[in-house]
Formats: sequence, C-alpha cells, structure tokens
Amino acid sequence: KQEPITFHVNGHAATLDIAADAPLLNVLRNDLCLNGPKFGCGLGECGACTVLVDGVAARSCVIPLAGVAGRNVTTLDGLAQEGRLDPVQQAFIDEQGAQCGYCMNGMIMTLKALLLRSPSPTEDEIRSELDFNLCRCGTHVEIMRAALRAVE
Ligand code: FES
Repeated sequence: KQEPITFHVNGHAATLDIAADAPLLNVLRNDLCLNGPKFGCGLGECGACTVLVDGVAARSCVIPLAGVAGRNVTTLDGLAQEGRLDPVQQAFIDEQGAQCGYCMNGMIMTLKALLLRSPSPTEDEIRSELDFNLCRCGTHVEIMRAALRAVE
C-alpha cells in the first residue's frame, strides 16, 4: 500500500491518502476545494491551471501529486493576505483585465511568479512571460495594462 502524501498548500499542511499519480490540479480542486486553478487543456499548454510550487509557476494539470510531496504550493485562493488582495489581483480588477475570466488564474499566478524572482520586469519580459498563457477572448490589451499596473 502506498504511503499518504503530505505537502503544504497556502500555508497549511495537507496529507492525502490518494493515488500518487493523481494530477495536482484535480487534487486541488476536487479534494481540497481550491477552485482558483482552472482546467483548460489538461496538457500543460494553456496555463489556466497555473500554481506556484516553491514560488515558481507550474502547470498543475501535468504535475502528479507525488511531485509536490514536501513542497509548498500556492494557489490563487491563497494569494490574499490578511483580507487584502495581492497587488497583482488588485491590478487585474482595477484594469478590468478579465472578459470571461477563465485565463485570469494563469495570468495572475504567472505574473506573481515573475515578480517574485524579478520585482521590476520590463514590458518585454512581461510579454514573453505571459506568452504561453492563452486568452481566447482577446483581452490582451487589458491584461498588459493590468500587468504593467501590478509592477508599478
Ligand atoms: Fe493545465 Fe491547460 S489546463 S496548462
């Protein structure tokens, strides 16, 4: 029998006795009721499912639960601190970056990861970082405005 797997998610320890190869996205949404990350493609290509693993952006649909054993996972649900939205979240609200909103999790978490490793990125750096997050509504202008506001 396999051992339960423990990891930290949004600052809390979670121990789960489920299949080690379950996609992290499914575990977060179905077992831990964290619905920030979204299912888009399930293939690691669209970015809708992005979370932070030890502060680095990662696509949770292609990471098995065993891959985060002992590590720190942050989801969109855990970005707000002490009742205050993260500045990246606030910037997307202020600039109305969402149309349907499905890609917002990925945009926000990817930008958050960029800011953690590079607090003052250039516009080109932001563009290339968000390049692999798909938005089918075409709100790229608003998304870039929000991203630039977030780094101000
Ligand atoms: Fe994970 Fe598309 S759902 S990258």
